[in-house]
Amino acid sequence: MPKLTIRDIDVSEKRVIVRADFNVTFVPKTNSIADDSRIKATLPTIQHLRERNARVILCSHLGRPNGFDNELRLEPIAQRLSQLLGSPVKYARDCIGEEATKVVNEIGPGDVGLLENLRFHPGEEENDPDFAKTLSQIADIYVNDAFGTAHRSHASTEGITHFLPAVSGFLMEKEMEFLGNALENPSKPFMAVIGGAKVSDKITVLKNLVPKVNQILIGGGMAAAFLNAYGHATGISQVQEDEPDMARDIVKQAARLGGIELLLPLDVVVADRIDANAETEIVFTDSIPKNKMILDIGPRTREMYETAIAETKTVLWNGPMGAFEYAAFSEGTKSVATALANITANGSITIIGGGSTTEAVESLNLANKMTHVSTGGGASLEFLEGRELPGVSAIQEKV
Ligand code: 3PG
Repeated sequence: MPKLTIRDIDVSEKRVIVRADFNVTFVPKTNSIADDSRIKATLPTIQHLRERNARVILCSHLGRPNGFDNELRLEPIAQRLSQLLGSPVKYARDCIGEEATKVVNEIGPGDVGLLENLRFHPGEEENDPDFAKTLSQIADIYVNDAFGTAHRSHASTEGITHFLPAVSGFLMEKEMEFLGNALENPSKPFMAVIGGAKVSDKITVLKNLVPKVNQILIGGGMAAAFLNAYGHATGISQVQEDEPDMARDIVKQAARLGGIELLLPLDVVVADRIDANAETEIVFTDSIPKNKMILDIGPRTREMYETAIAETKTVLWNGPMGAFEYAAFSEGTKSVATALANITANGSITIIGGGSTTEAVESLNLANKMTHVSTGGGASLEFLEGRELPGVSAIQEKV
């Protein structure tokens, strides 16, 4: 059922509290934001509300603090937002109480305020009804634009909706539209490219996707478990005891359903350690040396995956093809990202499923060449697993 959005309500002159996900990364030991894409992604919602004379009260968590923590204050976010909006954002040094009320009273129609890190109060993560009620009392309407936190049932994502009319912002709407359509109504052929370190992290995603896709491409460290399932030795690649069985279950599930092609690497880049200076070798997957681990897909696999991707109408990608943070193990991830960018240019739908895959396409400057790059890490994973997200469920449905 579609959710109500900020398009559906009158916000003029109203105090609108917007739950955003400003859980951004900082340059280590500085106040400088390393990646502001989550902040930028919320701008369309903020602008829409400002243009309609709402009093915009933004709130978010940052990190996982235990009580007040000067290192995790949202002041740098308020500064960055001010720059991006081209007008001052008033920053409250607490998210409830006098500090918050003062800022909310000061902002007029079209103005923006930012409350302090919600997680400074334990009531946020405990979804304490009293905390949620107190938070709600400074606003007339609640907007959830924090897709990245939608898998958490916290006071600012769920509890507050018991006290205020709750609608979604544009980012939340867009995430649900693209990820939801990919799962429910994709243009076919529909392919999932799944990578990452461990099969156990992706097993539920794979189980949920197998019945929906035409093809699955496997990469990353988790390819080792699939290769083990086919009887190949994978050297010192990290495979937990139960992972080959998990991989075997996926192979069986695909075979049972029929018509699903599961592509595994033909060759891989191996080394004896994850290290920029490690000596690398390209080997076929049936001859991986005993003392080496898989760290990327190899050139023949890249070619095979690029060819498969070129034939596809919708691609959902979750998990890098190798340890892409190191140049020596980044070619596989780069080739998949480039192949996706190419088919996007030809009208196919490409969806990047958040977390490290989003980081990878951003580091390759290819994010703007994809149809949709999710801002959610854990949230998109849980969504792709087919789980209900409490922050989404709590938003009012369109009638
Ligand atoms: C994220 O970065 O994935 C979200 O902001 C959620 O953060 P959390 O895992 O600390 O709840």
